[in-house]
Amino acid sequence: MGNGIAQVAARAGFKVVMRDVAEEFLARGMAAIDKSLQRDVDKERLSADDKQSIIGRIRTTKELTELRAAFIVVEAVTEQLSVKSKVFEALDEVVQSDAILASNTSSISITKLGAITKRPDKVIGMHFMNPVPVMKLVEIIRGAATSDETYNAVHALTEKLGKIPLECHDSPGFISNRVLMPMINEAIFALYEGVASRESIDGIMKLGMNHPMGPLTLADFIGLDVCLAIMNVLHDGFNDSKYRPCPLLKRYVDAGWLGRKSGRGFYEY
Ligand code: 3HC
Repeated sequence: MGNGIAQVAARAGFKVVMRDVAEEFLARGMAAIDKSLQRDVDKERLSADDKQSIIGRIRTTKELTELRAAFIVVEAVTEQLSVKSKVFEALDEVVQSDAILASNTSSISITKLGAITKRPDKVIGMHFMNPVPVMKLVEIIRGAATSDETYNAVHALTEKLGKIPLECHDSPGFISNRVLMPMINEAIFALYEGVASRESIDGIMKLGMNHPMGPLTLADFIGLDVCLAIMNVLHDGFNDSKYRPCPLLKRYVDAGWLGRKSGRGFYEY
């Protein structure tokens, strides 16, 4: 999702530094941006020159220190508290003391991430939806210590990015994944129990509820590891068995069948 966020920020006119840990990931990110913008060029919604200008506003780096001058950093690393904590600790040392540290986390506590830093008032959730260039929503999550000033700045920034900010307090899964992920998990239980085929489950939800994708297709699109991580956050956070992840979801993740990104999930790609 990081490359999608970089793309919408650059398209809105901001200079962006996109950081990852390996050149190969940066190259993959830039290729995704190129492909996504090219769709708009092909549909004559963007000129080829404007596409190049957008790409020209994105600089890639492996060095965290290159983020030193940023007024906001949007973190989009893997959905594990231990990994995010290390990134927040390091960012807190590197970026200016008045910079905002936002997380694109799907479910991890903003309050916990804020407490790792010396600026919990400037830590906030900025939860984009996949695919970032297409989806209008950004769920804005206030941690216990997030200031009104930070909230207002991020609200205004989200609008500048052409997105719609909607506010939510810090609670496991926030609103989006608290509602979405149990539905996906239930669809996986239905498959696990042999109630219907993958095609029927997806077709029933797609045609019957007017969802753009069936829940199993959507799970593959999001990433099964991400879905499992979110279910675990809900399960641990609410301490309620209704959020237990389906054994089939766990088995697929154990097998490395993570959905679209690994070439196999509930479907083959
Ligand atoms: N970049 C730019 N544009 C893209 C794109 C991308 N990566 N992917 C799709 N598009 C555009 C297409 O160009 C097309 O534009 P147009 O209609 O204006 O010409 C439009 O999106 C529709 O694309 P397609 O016709 O190729 O395909 P679909 O009609 O099937 O739409 C979809 C694709 C937008 C992904 C649609 O299936 C969808 O909305 N799916 C559900 C997505 C969803 O639920 N996202 C939320 C996931 S949860 C999440 O992100 C939270 C996290 O914490 C887990």
